[in-house]
Amino acid sequence: MSESAYYGLSEGELRELGQLYRAGLAIIAVASGAAGSGKSTLAASLAIQAPRAGLGPMVLMDAARRGGLTQWWDRRRGQKPQLSSLGGASRLADTVERLHGMGAKLIIIDTGPNMDDMVEQVLAMASLVIIPCRPERNDVFAADMTSEVAQMLGTKTVFVVSSAIRGARMSDQIAVELAKHGTVAPATLFRRPEVAQAIAKGQTVLETDPEGEAAKELEKLWEYIHGRLGKIVQLNFPG
Ligand SMILES: Nc1ncnc2c1ncn2[C@@H]1O[C@H](COP(=O)(O)OP(=O)(O)OP(=O)(O)O)[C@@H](O)[C@H]1O
Ligand SMILES: [Mg+2]
Repeated sequence: MSESAYYGLSEGELRELGQLYRAGLAIIAVASGAAGSGKSTLAASLAIQAPRAGLGPMVLMDAARRGGLTQWWDRRRGQKPQLSSLGGASRLADTVERLHGMGAKLIIIDTGPNMDDMVEQVLAMASLVIIPCRPERNDVFAADMTSEVAQMLGTKTVFVVSSAIRGARMSDQIAVELAKHGTVAPATLFRRPEVAQAIAKGQTVLETDPEGEAAKELEKLWEYIHGRLGKIVQLNFPG
């Protein structure tokens, strides 16, 4: 990564920026170099669960440029949450600061699979990078790369097993494999048709089937993430 990739900010300056945000605002980045690993689905789900569990005001951002998250949001036709534009890589810090000034306590940023300038900035600014990983070798490799970049930028990471299949060998082994590379969330997201169906309708399973197994997985995952954020960000989280 060259310095120019940061639009004039050195790695040290970016780290400082990250510290500043860590002081009063939680920024969750959902990232992985593996296409289709479940980033947008997870970002959308967390955006519904976080305020439901008492952490807000929350704003979504899509660093994948009209990626899956924006398409999901469009299908919601004005229903919450709020989606903010990023304003370009050179203005991301300003946008985040403005949202913070307007009272945002949590920003969730979805990213695309390519490690471009924008994603690097998002990883540097995040309080925590959540890395969904399907039980596939390629995903583990890509997840590890993403985690290494984030950690090099001074940002904490957590792997989340996504689209797991109960009883399948790789699904059973994936958490052990990932644990060799970093922290793994103690909540697995299984592959379930209702998850994809809800997203296709501009909803999440938390809305379409709030008592179902998929919703319970997300609640358990959020509880863990909320706990991790509480240790990183100096915020008085309600709830
Ligand atoms: N738990 C799940 N169960 C079933 N299908 C899922 C689950 N999670 C994600 N999917 C499906 O997998 C596909 C890819 O998911 P998603 O778009 O969230 O991945 P992504 O990482 O954002 O992809 P990209 O890298 O292209 O941005 C989608 O069709 C989505 O509906
Ligand atoms: Mg996506």
